[in-house]
Amino acid sequence: MRILFVGDVVGSPGRSMVDEYLPKLKSKYNPAVTIVNGENAAGGKGITEKIYQGFLKAGANLVTLGNHTWDNREIFEFIDGAKYMIRPANFPSSNPGKGIAYLPFEGKELAVINLQGRTFLPPIDCPFEKADQLVEEAKKRTPFIFVDFHAEATSEKLAIGWYLDGRVTGVVGTHTHVQTSDYRILPEGTAYMTDVGMTGPYDGILGVQKEAVLKRFITALPVRFEVVEGRAQLNAVLIDVDMKTGKAKKIMPIIINDDHPFFD
Ligand SMILES: [Fe+2]
Repeated sequence: MRILFVGDVVGSPGRSMVDEYLPKLKSKYNPAVTIVNGENAAGGKGITEKIYQGFLKAGANLVTLGNHTWDNREIFEFIDGAKYMIRPANFPSSNPGKGIAYLPFEGKELAVINLQGRTFLPPIDCPFEKADQLVEEAKKRTPFIFVDFHAEATSEKLAIGWYLDGRVTGVVGTHTHVQTSDYRILPEGTAYMTDVGMTGPYDGILGVQKEAVLKRFITALPVRFEVVEGRAQLNAVLIDVDMKTGKAKKIMPIIINDDHPFFD
């Protein structure tokens, strides 16, 4: 069994990459489950119902979110009816939406959990405690469990990877928008990667116009960040899973951009 996970989709350049390449990736790699992180999909901040539906139409089975979950107010109108969308599970329990979903594949189920880190991000509930709780809950239904850990600090991401090693099929990081090369199978069988990278503009700075980011760094004055148009990229990861144990067998990064073209 194979999982395809696409890193943070940023704005219209990211959505175009999903529309163009998700069907191609699916026919090339034939994943049982495809997941897309869509928290930056609407102009870099949040998601709309139309975009959510567009991801499902392009071939995603589930959309995960992160710290920009609530930034597009439209989400409050559709999140409770969005069966195939999850937001970080360790947001306050009063928040709308849910943090875990069960996706059917080959007569079994993959539990997908979305969590958010606390280092350099707004204070929320403990992701480690919430992971314990949700992994225990998921284990009652399935040995196939996947975690999108949306976090800033590499240390916190590594920490949750080691914390969940042997308890889940895979833990991948999102949010920092730069793909890391530390993908591996941890000793107890959990696939791990600190950050999958992003799907969106290729020539900006984390998806934003480089001129604006440079101005912020150089002048320290407030600057409006806009998603940059032009060349785009897609970053993703594939995880092969043992059908008997639910442990990971292989993890492979995917990069598509003008310097790493896609081959059928
Ligand atoms: Fe984020």
